[in-house]
Amino acid sequence: MSAAIEIRNLSVVHRRPWPAGGPAVTALDRVSLSIAPGEIFGLVGESGSGKSTLARVLLRFLRPAAGSVSVAGADPAMLRGAALKSWRRRVQPVFQDSVAALDPRARIGALLREGLDLHAIGPRSGRAAAVAELLEQVGLDPDHAARYPHQLSGGQRQRVAIARALSLSPEILIADEPVSALDLSVQAQILGLLTQLCRARGMTMLFISHDLGVVRQISDRIGVLRQGGLVEEGPVAQVFRAPRHPYTRDLLAAAPFVDFEALRRASVPARADRSQRTEMV
Ligand SMILES: Nc1ncnc2c1ncn2[C@@H]1O[C@H](COP(=O)(O)OP(=O)(O)OP(=O)(O)O)[C@@H](O)[C@H]1O
Ligand SMILES: [Mg+2]
Repeated sequence: MSAAIEIRNLSVVHRRPWPAGGPAVTALDRVSLSIAPGEIFGLVGESGSGKSTLARVLLRFLRPAAGSVSVAGADPAMLRGAALKSWRRRVQPVFQDSVAALDPRARIGALLREGLDLHAIGPRSGRAAAVAELLEQVGLDPDHAARYPHQLSGGQRQRVAIARALSLSPEILIADEPVSALDLSVQAQILGLLTQLCRARGMTMLFISHDLGVVRQISDRIGVLRQGGLVEEGPVAQVFRAPRHPYTRDLLAAAPFVDFEALRRASVPARADRSQRTEMV
């Protein structure tokens, strides 16, 4: 089966807009990586190592200087028109606080409906019910549809961001630091939700984080970026048992172990208990 994401010898150079003629930054240097369908791939690296640059190339926000990229069977940079529209539906981003970046005057229900309308998903008459179902799937109450983004907590907004991505039934999620702004118990809930959704739907996820502890909890395989180069890549158990690169060893030694699974179990209320669920983050 062909890869969900295939990256070959990818190099990306950021040109500085100011001062004119200032030095260019090589954000990625000949990175190669293959992510299989249904796989959860964790990408870690310190700040400035090129993680978001990689995500932005995969999402078609940036063009590579060299190398090639294939996402859901297409080179993002080459897509136009109807092919681009259908590809956008199949490849969805989740950022650190995606919902905060959206129209603050739109209610949550309208934000969730937007993609359904744009891509004409399901009958118009069924869209309100589809929005309620999406909210339910991410552990929010249907009443949240009437709220505005600022009337939700950060964790609730992140659930809405995930629901927005899910509304299009994507094959691939590209999640750039989706839990970094949240406190530990909320992180645990959102991580649990993302992994459960990926497994249930067979979705592929590229999960980006500066936190090795987070990536360890959810990934099948991980990659370590350092100064634009991929210095380590392999199944999560193998990398943690026998890291090959000294930088990974340093990262491992510095990472505190947080048992997100235990945190999640401790903080997620029973599904049937709706009164508590409304209070959930
Ligand atoms: N638009 C840009 N113009 C110039 N340089 C940029 C631009 N975007 C990123 N860079 C530089 O490219 C390098 C990689 O940045 P990137 O945002 O990919 O890092 P990151 O690993 O996502 O970091 P963080 O963990 O802080 O989010 C950095 O040196 C950064 O300063
Ligand atoms: Mg980043």
